[in-house]
Amino acid sequence: MTISLEADLKSLQQAAQAAINGCDDLDGLDKLRVQYLGKKGELSLILKGMGKLSAEERPILGAIANEVKEALQQDLECRKTNLQNAEIEAQLAAETLDVTMAGSYRPQGRRHPLNSTVDRVLDIFVGLGYTVATGPQVETDYYNFEALNIPADHPARDMQDTFFLKDGRLLRTHTSPVQIRYMEKHDPPIRIVAPGRVYRRDTVDATHSAVFHQVELLAIDKGLAFTHLKGTIQAFIKQMFGEALPIRFRASYFPFTEPSAEVDVQWQGKWLEVMGCGMVDPNVMKAVGYDPEVYTGFAAGFGVERFAMVLHQIDDIRRLYNSDLRFLRQF
Ligand code: DAH
Repeated sequence: MTISLEADLKSLQQAAQAAINGCDDLDGLDKLRVQYLGKKGELSLILKGMGKLSAEERPILGAIANEVKEALQQDLECRKTNLQNAEIEAQLAAETLDVTMAGSYRPQGRRHPLNSTVDRVLDIFVGLGYTVATGPQVETDYYNFEALNIPADHPARDMQDTFFLKDGRLLRTHTSPVQIRYMEKHDPPIRIVAPGRVYRRDTVDATHSAVFHQVELLAIDKGLAFTHLKGTIQAFIKQMFGEALPIRFRASYFPFTEPSAEVDVQWQGKWLEVMGCGMVDPNVMKAVGYDPEVYTGFAAGFGVERFAMVLHQIDDIRRLYNSDLRFLRQF
């Protein structure tokens, strides 16, 4: 009896050890523990046969059973430690950062020179207390011309050869209609800067494009005078070019301003015409229901392409629209 139980224990130990050593995951290992050493496990099963043993045999077999149990517990513990270490090592290996590995090239995007020019302009005017405003690119005759004091037979309409839509609307020829739209919705005082795309039936060449960009300025308040316009333009030019360049205001004509002027900047030895401006015409004030006896204001408008070309020394406006990466990467 003793002999057969002892043999059973030994073969259990062998089978269990083989299973433990062959097991390579922690879950499986725990299942083996239950299978061999659990309450209803194989060792318990064998020990049930001990009841039939004599009083002398029992302690001997009990001792052997304990040895087997302890040995198996040790085997399980040892295997568990090994598996846990292997798991950690595998994780470390997977997370190893090879700092000597060759990098892969990722092309870096950047702002288009037109956008960065607009951003700069907006930054400057926001810094001066202006609010950014926008308006639609498809406009009506009223906002693009009529409300800006450009009547139907006015020669200034020829200056701005217009794309008309079939429904009678048009593609705005300048950002000035944003002045009207904003004033209709807001009461003075007003300080806005309005960037946007504009359209003209121009033949494309190195300095002309049928689609280009403008920025519009408008300030309305009590007591605004030409000197405020001048100071504002001077502050803007200084920040835009990074230095206080010589500026000259030349008398000019725009239907929506009176008096009107064009601004020239001396840049690298040459006078450059950079913008139109003036005091808001009383007729424009009346069109939006402002009392020109109470409020005055100034407005200005300029082309973004022109500034971008001057500042970056770009010789052909078409480069700004061709999306040639060899060109764009320079900015
Ligand atoms: N709208 C004019 C143009 O496109 C530019 C301009 C001139 C805007 C004088 C103004 C201004 O606001 O006061 O040529």
